[in-house]
Formats: sequence, C-alpha cells, structure tokens
Amino acid sequence: MIIDTHCHLEKNDYPNLEEIIHHMDGNIMIASADNLKSSYEVDELTKKYDNIYGTIGFHPTELEDFNENTLKELEKLLQNKKIVGIGEIGLDYHYGKEESELQKDAFIKQIELAIKYNLPIVIHSRDAAEDTLEILKKYPNIKMDMHCYGYSLEVAKQLLKINPHMKFGIGGVLTFKNSKKLKEVVEYLDMSNILLETDSPFLAPEPLRGTKNEPANTKYVAEYIANMKNISLEEVKKITTTNAISQFDLKIK
Ligand code: NI
Repeated sequence: MIIDTHCHLEKNDYPNLEEIIHHMDGNIMIASADNLKSSYEVDELTKKYDNIYGTIGFHPTELEDFNENTLKELEKLLQNKKIVGIGEIGLDYHYGKEESELQKDAFIKQIELAIKYNLPIVIHSRDAAEDTLEILKKYPNIKMDMHCYGYSLEVAKQLLKINPHMKFGIGGVLTFKNSKKLKEVVEYLDMSNILLETDSPFLAPEPLRGTKNEPANTKYVAEYIANMKNISLEEVKKITTTNAISQFDLKIK
C-alpha cells in the first residue's frame, strides 16, 4: 500500500477524475482543500470514494472569504469522519507581507479548530519560516505535517525541536536535479518523520516533471527515497503508510 497524503483533486483540474482514481488501484489519497468551496468538494469526494480521505481549511492566499461564518461552515464539515485533518493552512509571504496579520489570525483560528476536534494540521509555509516557527512553538502537542517541505535543514531541525514527531511531506521536488536543499533534509530525517505526497496537480516528479501530476506518481517519490536511504521500496511504502495511518488516524477498512 502507498498513501498520497496531500493532493488536490478538483473537478476543474481533472475532468478525468475517475481515471486518475483508477490509477491509484485502491491505494489511499488524502485530498486537500484550500478554501470553503474546495472543502465542500473534498467532503463530497470522501463520501463517494472509499480510498479518499480529506483535509479541509483555508490556504493563506485564499482568505477572501475567511470569516466567523465561513469558519463555522467549515466546522460543520467535521461531522464527516473521513475528514481527517485541517489543511492546508499556514503562512505564505511569497507575494509580500501585506496580509501577514490576516494570515496569522486565520492560521491560529484554524489550529484552534483542529485542537477542538483533536485533528492534525497540514501546514503550507512559504517564505515565512520565522513566523511559522513562532506560532507552532505555542502548539507543541498537536500533530503537524509540513506539507511540501521547502525550507532548509536548519529550519527542519528547529521544527523537530518543537515536536520530534513532526512530519515532513515529501513530494516530486525531491526528484528534481536542483533540489539540493531538500535532499539534505531528507537525508537527515528519520523515516518516521516522512510522509509521501504529490501535491497533485502540481510538481510532477521525475521522470514526468512538467506534466500534470497525479496521486499514482507517489511511487516515484517512494523509489527516490528508497535509493537515497538505501532501503527497499517496500520498506519505504510500509513505513510511510504506517506514518500516515497514525498521523491522520485513518480507519482503513
Ligand atoms: Ni497543496
């Protein structure tokens, strides 16, 4: 078994969604949302397909509709037991820091929602390492997944200091020639801290770089890690699956 712990499966991106799911051959996907609309879509997907679980939330650059009311609507979706986390949530200063206060506020409110329901969080953090660390420090006991990890080894070490069980979502970027920094991080990390992900439809791994990504490509990332860590592909699948099941408390039939 292999688990893609983070993918986006919106109808807009995948008119052929049935086919994409078929490629996964019964393996598990955790579909991620980034606003209220995609949260509803994720909710529907988890009800339609046995092997799809979901996380819901407002991405830091998708906060136009974030307010008390939409947060309550989000909360209602948590009745669905196949919603297994809050995400992706976090901070993104790539296009500037004008909205940093709004982003921090939304991040914290959604972390608190996760705590209320005893759910893990899936974090999107880009060009905002310092503020992310500052916030996460206050929540050392919550289960966290640094999705599509893109910071340095130094930051990874600080995150592990906050929470030694911190998970790092590793995807296609690892297989890119120029991803020296991420390779360093993965080399350093214990396998118990690694989750596989694709972040589909983005960031297809080598040898498919540049094409539309899909969850079935998780295997290329697994193969790459197996080679790096000098362990078998089966071992990588087994450990990362165990990690994902425990991180998201998946009740797999
Ligand atoms: Ni994502």
